[in-house]
Amino acid sequence: MGGGFYISKFVGVVGIVFGAGAVATVIALAVVYSQEVAKNEAVSPTNGGSTIKPPVTTPGGSTVKPQITTPVIPTTAPSNEPWDKYRLPDTLKPDHYNLTLWPRLTVNAQDLYIFTGKSYVVFQCVKETDLILIHSNKLNYTKWGDDHLAKLSALGSTPAPTIKKSWLQPTTQFLVLELNGKLAVGESYQLDTVFVGELADDLGGFYRSVYTEEGEEKVVATTQMQPTDARKAFPCFDEPAMKAIFHITLLHPPMTKCCIMILIKTSYCPLFSFPNSFWRTSFDKTKKMSTYLLAFIVSDYDYINSTNDNVLIRIYARKKAIADGQGEYALSKTGPILKFFEKYYNATYPLPKSDQIALPDFNAGAMENWGLITYRETALLYDPKMSSNSNKERIATIIAHELAHMWFGNLVTLRWWNDLWLNEGFASYVEYLGANEAEPDWNIKDLIVLGDVHRVFAVDALASSHPLSSREEDIQKPEQISELFDAISYSKVRSSVFSTYLNTFAYDNTVYTDLWDHLQMAVNSTGTSLPTGQTVHSIMNRWVLQMGFPVVTINTTTGLINQQHFLLDPSTAGSVPPSDFKYEWIVPIRWMKTGVVQQQTWLEDKTAHKPDMIVTGNNWILANLNVSGYYRVNYDNTNWERLLGVLSSHHESIPVINRAQLVDDAFNLARAKYINTTLALRTTKYLRSEREYMPWESALDNLDFFYLMFDRSEIYGIMQTYLKYQIEPLFKHFGNITGNWTEVPTGHMDQYNQANAIRVACSTGMEECQTLTKGWYSQWMKDSANNPIHPNLRTTVYCSAIAAGGAAEWEFGWDQFKAATIAIEADKLRSALACTKQPWLLNKYLEYTLDANKIRKQDATSTIVYIASNVVGQSLAWDFMRDRWNYIFTQYGGGSFSFSNLINGVTKRFSTEFELKQLKQFQADNSEVGFGSGTLAVSQSIERTTANIKWVAENKDSVQTWFTTEVPKE
Ligand code: BES
Ligand code: ZN
Repeated sequence: MGGGFYISKFVGVVGIVFGAGAVATVIALAVVYSQEVAKNEAVSPTNGGSTIKPPVTTPGGSTVKPQITTPVIPTTAPSNEPWDKYRLPDTLKPDHYNLTLWPRLTVNAQDLYIFTGKSYVVFQCVKETDLILIHSNKLNYTKWGDDHLAKLSALGSTPAPTIKKSWLQPTTQFLVLELNGKLAVGESYQLDTVFVGELADDLGGFYRSVYTEEGEEKVVATTQMQPTDARKAFPCFDEPAMKAIFHITLLHPPMTKCCIMILIKTSYCPLFSFPNSFWRTSFDKTKKMSTYLLAFIVSDYDYINSTNDNVLIRIYARKKAIADGQGEYALSKTGPILKFFEKYYNATYPLPKSDQIALPDFNAGAMENWGLITYRETALLYDPKMSSNSNKERIATIIAHELAHMWFGNLVTLRWWNDLWLNEGFASYVEYLGANEAEPDWNIKDLIVLGDVHRVFAVDALASSHPLSSREEDIQKPEQISELFDAISYSKVRSSVFSTYLNTFAYDNTVYTDLWDHLQMAVNSTGTSLPTGQTVHSIMNRWVLQMGFPVVTINTTTGLINQQHFLLDPSTAGSVPPSDFKYEWIVPIRWMKTGVVQQQTWLEDKTAHKPDMIVTGNNWILANLNVSGYYRVNYDNTNWERLLGVLSSHHESIPVINRAQLVDDAFNLARAKYINTTLALRTTKYLRSEREYMPWESALDNLDFFYLMFDRSEIYGIMQTYLKYQIEPLFKHFGNITGNWTEVPTGHMDQYNQANAIRVACSTGMEECQTLTKGWYSQWMKDSANNPIHPNLRTTVYCSAIAAGGAAEWEFGWDQFKAATIAIEADKLRSALACTKQPWLLNKYLEYTLDANKIRKQDATSTIVYIASNVVGQSLAWDFMRDRWNYIFTQYGGGSFSFSNLINGVTKRFSTEFELKQLKQFQADNSEVGFGSGTLAVSQSIERTTANIKWVAENKDSVQTWFTTEVPKE
C-alpha cells in the first residue's frame, strides 16, 4: 500500500455499502494501516539537521527580517513541461516532514502579519527523475549558500545530485528544482527549505482570525488546508494520496495556553531560558495522513474537557465563550456520537484525542482536520438562552458530520478529488445517524427529505448539472476542485445512493466498505430480491454515473408506467451531455393503494405494465412511499384529483413525508410542464387544516418561487391575501398551544413550524402577528439587557420588526449585533438587518459587507445574499456585486461554497429579458477576472433565468386568475 488507505476505483465505480462482509474489510484495513504506521514510526525525524543555519526561524530577535529573494519565471506560452501541469508526477513519494512555524501575532514594520518557517521533507524516489516538484503557494524562500531555494541531501550512500535551477511556478503552485543528475530509485532524500508567508485574513492556509476580548484585540493563527491550501503554509506534496507523517513545532508567545495540533503530549519549553520571549511547542508525530487534514493553531483560548473510553475530548473557544458555558453542549454530545460511530464502523476511534475548536473567522461551517476539528463559532457554541432549536440541530449534525470523517475520509482517504462526492456524501448521510443518536427525539432523519432531497432535486434537474462522479483527468485546477463541493456532492449521495440502499436493500448491519461487491454479497446473503439479471453494480451505476434523476409517471387507468429524465426546462434536453445509459434508471418503487402499503416493485426499463396499479372509484395510488427513492412521481389526472380529494378530506391517510413530497412534486412537475400550475397550487389548499411542519415547509419553499417571480408585480397583493388566509389557523393553533405565545411547543418540528407560522403571518400582513412582534422588539429596545424574545423566534421576530420599522429599529439591531457575545445571536441579527425596507439602509449595509471591521470576511457573501433576498434589496445587491466584482473576487473568492451561493443568491429573482442580458453581460465583462468556484453557478443562473422568463410568460395569467378566485371575498 502506497500511503495509508484510499478509496479505490473498481471497474469505474466507487461506492460505499452497508453489508455484513464489510466488517471484515474494515478490520483488515485497520490491520494493514497499523502496520504502515509502525513501519513509518521507525523513522524518527529530528529537529534541525540543516548545515546552513537559516536565520529566520530563530526566535528571540524580533528584528530579524527574512531575506526574500524569490526568482519567479513567469509562464508565458503554454508548454508541456511537467511544472505547467497541475498534478504531481509519480516520481517521488513523501515519507515524513519536519516543520517549524513561527506565526507573528503582531504586525511587522511593513504593517503585515507574517509567519516564518523552516521545514524539511524526507521523500523516496520511486521513478528515476532529475526534477523535483513540490507544491508551494504565496511563500517566499530564503536562498541557501548555493543560491537555490532549497537544499537537497541524500540519506543513502549515493550523494544527491546538485541543483541546476530552482524557481517558483505560481500558476500551478510549484516550487521547481531542476537537478544536474538523476535521483536514484529506492533512495531517500531530504529537502530543506526556509520560507516566509503572510498570515493574512484570507481564511485559507495558515491565516489569522481576530476578535476583541475585554477591549483588547486578539489574534489567532489558524489553518484551513482543504482542498489545496497546505501549500500556502509550507512546501509540501499537496495531494490527498501523498500521505506522510508530520512532526510539527510551533513557536509562539508565552502563555498562549492553547497551541495545538494533531496529537497530544506537547512540551512547552521556554527558549533560551527567556520565559518572556518565545516558547516552542513540539507535538507528537502524526499518523500517516494527507496534507489537507493538517491543522495547527496558536491562540490564548480556554477549553473544557472530558474523557470517553480513553479518548480525551476537548472543546476550545474564546475565554469568555468557555466561561459562559457555550462549549458544554458540544462536549456533552461528542462522546456519545464518537461511541456511536465506533460501533457503526466497528473500529475504534483512531486517535488518542479529539479536539474541537470554534474560530471567529472561518470560511466553511467546519473542517474535519484529523484530531483537531475547526468550526465557525455558530456551528459549535451553544447557549440555551441564546440558541434556537435550529442552531442546536446544526451543531449536533455538524459535529456528527465531522466526526464521521475521522474514519471515512481521514483514515480511509480519497485518492483524488474527483471522488470527493463519496467522502462528503457519505459523511452527509451518516451525520443524520450520528445526530439522531445525540438527539433521538427529533426525528431528524425525516428532515433529509427537506434538507437534501429537495435541495439537490433543484440543481440536479438542470441541464447544467453533473454526474456524481467525475473523471480524474477533468479535475485538475484548485478552482475545479473547490467547485466540487456543491449540492450534488453533498446531498445526492444522501438522497439517492443511501436512501436507495437503506430502503430497498434493507440491511440490518450498517458498516461501510468501499465496493458495491460487498453490498452484492450482503444482498445474496439476505435474499433481498433484485430485478432479474441486475446486480447492485448495474443498479447503482445508473445513479452515480448519470447526472439527473427520473420522473416516473403512473397511469392508474391503464397500469402503464414510464420514466423520463426530469428536466426543469424540458427544452434543454438537447444540451444534456451524452450518457452511456440514455438516462434510464432502475427505479425501486414502494407504493400504497388507498392507504394500504403494497409490495415493492421495480421499473427497470423505459416503460412497464403494472396491472396492480390500475384503480377505480375512490381508490388511489401513491408512489415513492416515504420518499425512499430518488425520483419524482407523476400520475394521470384522475389519480391527481383523487389525491387532492384525500388531502382535503382526510390528509392523515397519506404519510406526512409524502404530503410534503406531493406538494414538492406537483410544483416541480408544473415547472417542467408535466401538469398545470394550477394543479400544483391546489395542493396548498388543504394547508388550512395541516399542522405538521414538513408539508408546510415544502409548500412555503415552493411558494417562495412564486414570490420571487411575482413580488414585483400586481400578483403580489392577491398572493399575500391567499397566504394570509391559509396561515391563519396555524398561527392561531400555535397561539393556543403556547398559552398565548408564552410557552415553547414540545416537538422539535413543531418549534420549527411555530417560527414559520409567525414568519408567514407577519410577512403577509396579519395585524395580530405584527403587533406581537413589534411589541416584543420595542420592549427589548427599551430594556436591552432583557431580551423577551425566545431564541427560536428571534430570526423571524427581528426581521419582521426591522422590516416594519425605520432607522431606530435598524440602528438598535446593528448595536446589538456588534455587542453580541455569542456568534449565534449576531448571526440572527445579521440576517434580520437585511429585512429593512429602506433602500438607504440597505445600501449602507451593503457597504459594510466589504469592511471586515464591520462584517467578517466569512460572512460577507451570505450577507449580500440576505440583502438580495429582500425585494427592495435585490437590485441594489446586484448593482453592488457587479460594480465590485473584481474586488469581491480577489478578496473574498477563496471559499468553496460562498461564491456559488453568492451568484445564485443574487440572481435568483431574475425573470426578465433585460435581466438575462445583464447577466450575460456580467459573464462577458468578467471573463478575464473569472468566477473561480462560482463558474458553474454563472451558467446555472443563466439557465435558471431563461427558464424563469418562459415560466412567467406562460403562467402569469393563470396564476393571477387562480389566486383571484381562491382568495376569500371579504
Ligand atoms: N470538508 C468539509 C469542509 C470544507 C468544504 C472544506 C469545502 C473546504 C472546502 C466539511 O467536512 C464539511 O462538509 N463541512 C460542512 C458541514 C456539513 C455539516 C455539511 C460545512 O462546512 O458546511
Ligand atoms: Zn464533510
